[in-house]
Amino acid sequence: MDLKNARVLVVGGAGFVGSHLVDQLIGEPVKDIVVLDNLVRGKKQNLANALRDPRVQLIEGSILDVELLKRLMQGTSYVFHLAALWLFECVHQPRAAVDVNIVGTYNVIEAAQQARVKKIVYSSSASVYGDALATPMTEEHPFNNRTMYGATKIAGEQILRAFYEQHKLNYVGLRYMNVYGPRMDYKGAYVSVVMKVLDRLDESQPPVIFGDGSQAYDFIHVQDVARANVLALKSDASDQFFNVGMGVKTTINDLVKTLLELTGSKLKPEYKPQEQSFVTQRLGSTEKAERLLGFRAKISLRDGLKSVVDWRRQEKEEVVG
Ligand SMILES: NC(=O)c1ccc[n+]([C@@H]2O[C@H](COP(=O)([O-])OP(=O)(O)OC[C@H]3O[C@@H](n4cnc5c(N)ncnc54)[C@H](O)[C@@H]3O)[C@@H](O)[C@H]2O)c1
Repeated sequence: MDLKNARVLVVGGAGFVGSHLVDQLIGEPVKDIVVLDNLVRGKKQNLANALRDPRVQLIEGSILDVELLKRLMQGTSYVFHLAALWLFECVHQPRAAVDVNIVGTYNVIEAAQQARVKKIVYSSSASVYGDALATPMTEEHPFNNRTMYGATKIAGEQILRAFYEQHKLNYVGLRYMNVYGPRMDYKGAYVSVVMKVLDRLDESQPPVIFGDGSQAYDFIHVQDVARANVLALKSDASDQFFNVGMGVKTTINDLVKTLLELTGSKLKPEYKPQEQSFVTQRLGSTEKAERLLGFRAKISLRDGLKSVVDWRRQEKEEVVG
């Protein structure tokens, strides 16, 4: 696929991953980058730099607005679809999860097909796999998911597959492992473990580890994830799903240890009983993405976590200053 002079629609592009994707797209020879986001979680501030480029525009609106989607799709060659409610939101608001993640995704796909969009890159999730039955998980790993969030992502994947079958609408679905990096939400109600640990350290409180800390995940830096999106679009791959991870297993104990070292903290983690557990073992095979997309994550966990610590410091200085 050729990005030259293309109009690209980034749905959910003011969010964490989407805004980094927009930052990378401005380095491509595209004509227009239209971001659709209702800002429930994303922020205009995430696009502060990108919006200086005259090719970038932010449209505030929802994927539940079918007419708006129809309008925005006109003349669009490529769509990145990242808008979704997240794991915990899906636990607490299952109906909203169905509305946004399933019906909203259907709206995006249908509007894209009607406008003859050439390809969609869909943000799926490693959540479709649930707890790993064997590691590393290849893309053939069964849907061992037991969450509402994972259920909505599986539905999105299946709707794309059905549209491909019926209309030959090209798509690639990316199953991200655990994404972290600058612009991660740390003020909202649904905050990741990296941010929770750093919040505690900021308050000179010991970081809390739920369970024994042996839970292990495959952490990947957001800039690598954004790059995977661009590669997925450019590649000839279609009707395929790909893991997007580092292929490295990191326990929560190791993650916390690295954060303590990077912040120069001498505090010791405090262990508390596990409250709610979704997935405790996750490691994705990186082989297929490397072979067919030419994607391999580059940013080590240590360098990546340092970028988060530095970004938070800068954010806080800006608030104070
Ligand atoms: N961050 C991760 O670790 C991770 C892991 C696996 C998959 N994913 C998936 O990747 C995608 C991006 O994740 P993220 O971490 O950037 O999340 P995010 O919440 O920062 O981004 C999603 C964006 O979608 C927007 N949005 C939500 N509902 C909308 C609606 N009805 N209409 C228009 N916009 C709407 C939000 O305002 C937000 O800007 C999501 O689909 C998510 O499920 C993320």
